[in-house]
Amino acid sequence: MNKKIVKYSELKKQINIDTLKDTTENLAYLTHYLHNQKNGISQHYQPQAEEYFKNVVNEPLQQYLTLDLKFDIPFPTPETPKFTFIDLFAGIGGFRIAMQNLGGKCVFSSEIDRYAKKTYELNFGEVPFGDITKIDENDIPEHDILCGGFPCQAFSIAGKRKGFEETRGTLFFDIARIIKEKRPKAFFLENVKGLRNHDKGRTLKTILATLRDDLDYFVPEPEIMNAKDFGVPQNRERIFIIGFRKDQNITDFKYPEPLQKDVKFADIKEDKEVSVKYYLSDRYKNTLVEHKKRHAKKGNGFGFEIIDDNECANAIVVGGMGRERNIVIDCRLVDFNPLSKKRGDVNKDYWRRMTPREYARLQGFPDNFSINVSDAQAYKQFGNSVAIPAIQATAEVLTEKLFKE
Ligand SMILES: C[S@@+](CC[C@H](N)C(=O)[O-])C[C@H]1O[C@@H](n2cnc3c(N)ncnc32)[C@H](O)[C@@H]1O
Repeated sequence: MNKKIVKYSELKKQINIDTLKDTTENLAYLTHYLHNQKNGISQHYQPQAEEYFKNVVNEPLQQYLTLDLKFDIPFPTPETPKFTFIDLFAGIGGFRIAMQNLGGKCVFSSEIDRYAKKTYELNFGEVPFGDITKIDENDIPEHDILCGGFPCQAFSIAGKRKGFEETRGTLFFDIARIIKEKRPKAFFLENVKGLRNHDKGRTLKTILATLRDDLDYFVPEPEIMNAKDFGVPQNRERIFIIGFRKDQNITDFKYPEPLQKDVKFADIKEDKEVSVKYYLSDRYKNTLVEHKKRHAKKGNGFGFEIIDDNECANAIVVGGMGRERNIVIDCRLVDFNPLSKKRGDVNKDYWRRMTPREYARLQGFPDNFSINVSDAQAYKQFGNSVAIPAIQATAEVLTEKLFKE
């Protein structure tokens, strides 16, 4: 084995980092260790990383690492970080890009889905740890800011308010127990807009009471933020919840104002003709049209929608009719031969779905973001993700407050 490993890509080849095959936490330990060699945080990961490396290549890890391990990946950590953060429910790293852009260094990430982990590793050179419910809060390193777009699970308040304990069994509880133990200077949580009215508002009330009263953070009123106000043509409303540890003496917070920038689908549309596979079959197109008519008769707004080049897209979502909410008419198709005969003829009206790259752009992912999973996985990953520009604009205000001279 070559002793002069300097590039992450070479190391990766030699130890065959494959998130789909390895279901243990070994690769998470190793990559987290590699990212934190030069700071005190490495102690959290070193024993397991070394043990794993020794087993895989039968040699100690240290002798293969030069001080200049280069992360030749699309989104490396800033050279001289200004603060640290952790990336919970990391997905494909929407939060991470925003925080890194502001000078943040990620010291811990967690994500349960192995395909999302694959995309994450490809772009950040780090394999996230898995199921957060199984991770001891003591094993998480100190950090300045905790970030997490946690999945919303229903929980209702049965009788007397028990605060923190009441959220046990939900993924919010895992966030709360980590905050309780690690006491980050601030946190930034994201969720669906529906959280505000869930269970007549009681779910959010319990979350806020836990953060404010039990954990003793200053938590300004959460705000519904729309991606389209921050430069991407997607009408996506999400609730943002941020909080500051009381000793930071921050007693007010103003969410960023909309940019007043006109955004439209044309801004993010593919430059060239796209594969015929994104075009709807004639049969499917007719089914959609019929479906919409039936629903319209019943007075429902359900169905697909055609997004004009000058319009803003609907929120991209996962599952159901998700992809049909954003049909575009793109007349650049030349060859109408379908890739598979099974689906029948391609429609002649040029109706197509948006491509994964267009999904990525709707969420503000730069074009050097690598996608190396099936289209189905890519749609899911971007649909689940955060809109980076809205996150970054808010995190900018947050970090300015926190780290002002
Ligand atoms: C709404 S998405 C957040 C996506 C992320 N913020 C991004 O920008 O890509 C929630 C993520 O939490 C992950 N997740 C769900 N349960 C989890 C668990 N128990 N431990 C770790 N991750 C989990 C899901 O796989 C999903 O990727």
